[in-house]
Amino acid sequence: MTLDVNELGAIPAAWTRRHLLGLEDLSADELNIILDAAEMFRDATHDCTRKISVLTGRTAANLFFENSTRTRISFSLAMRRLGGDVVDFASGSSSMSKGETVIDTAKNIEAMGVDVVVCRHRTPGTTHLLANNLRCSVINAGDGPHEHPTQGLLDILTIRQRRGTLAGLTVALVGDIQFSRTARSNIWGLRKLGAHVILCGPSTLVSPLWREMGVEISHNLDAILPRCDVLNLLRIQFERQSTRPFPSVREYALLYAMNRQRIERAKDGVLILAPGPINRGVEVTPDVADGPHSVILEQVTNGLAVRMAVLWLICGASARELD
Ligand code: CP
Repeated sequence: MTLDVNELGAIPAAWTRRHLLGLEDLSADELNIILDAAEMFRDATHDCTRKISVLTGRTAANLFFENSTRTRISFSLAMRRLGGDVVDFASGSSSMSKGETVIDTAKNIEAMGVDVVVCRHRTPGTTHLLANNLRCSVINAGDGPHEHPTQGLLDILTIRQRRGTLAGLTVALVGDIQFSRTARSNIWGLRKLGAHVILCGPSTLVSPLWREMGVEISHNLDAILPRCDVLNLLRIQFERQSTRPFPSVREYALLYAMNRQRIERAKDGVLILAPGPINRGVEVTPDVADGPHSVILEQVTNGLAVRMAVLWLICGASARELD
């Protein structure tokens, strides 16, 4: 079933950005524009299951130089549910093996009539480089350990839907903060919307320098647990680490895994989030991941709504600029 375009309002005049590279530069008003648009799309499309053709004739290119399940598929589905086209680029089978640069690769794909490039790359700043060198819009789908703005937005949307507001909530990001792009985007977004943020994990992964971002630091999950409204459990990013940040995974799980005993000591109604992929038994036990406090799959559905909203806003701002 395709819904009527007229069911959607116009793009808010306050939205002027052609790119989404991170949450660091966005104001609280801009964050709320994206979150409100995501809710509008979720409502208008029955939880993002139906089409609403507002981007017919537009094309997005997924340029993923790192693996992805959730982000890549939901950007593709989001563009298709908005009536647009998607082209998928796989770096392993591309001509980059013949020496072509990222910029040249992206420029060639843009020359085929692409409106938006969605890029994930292991090097921080790659999407900024593309935004400076392409004429089309660029969306950051994760640049190394730097930012993952749509992940931050979908985490925040999930909390807002469950709690009504971010203001006054205490949100703990638990685990591998040092190598996490999700942590940075969450910190920027949550703080701007009035949440108190605690970073919790081993001292090798949570430096006291993070206090400069206005957050609380803790190395003791059991001590902060009774104060937290939300726990966002971040995966240990072994692939980015040159040395093990703790003696064994078993010891990490003993101190930081969210398990049934810890749920019993947490606030009533505590929300358990995880950006995924989850490692069952490391940052979260299966009974908690699949239990009543978990909103992990709601996050995934909200990811689709957020990406529909971002694509719609960015394509709209780009069209306005061309008028
Ligand atoms: N959360 C997230 O970015 O998942 P993927 O790596 O599967 O895209």
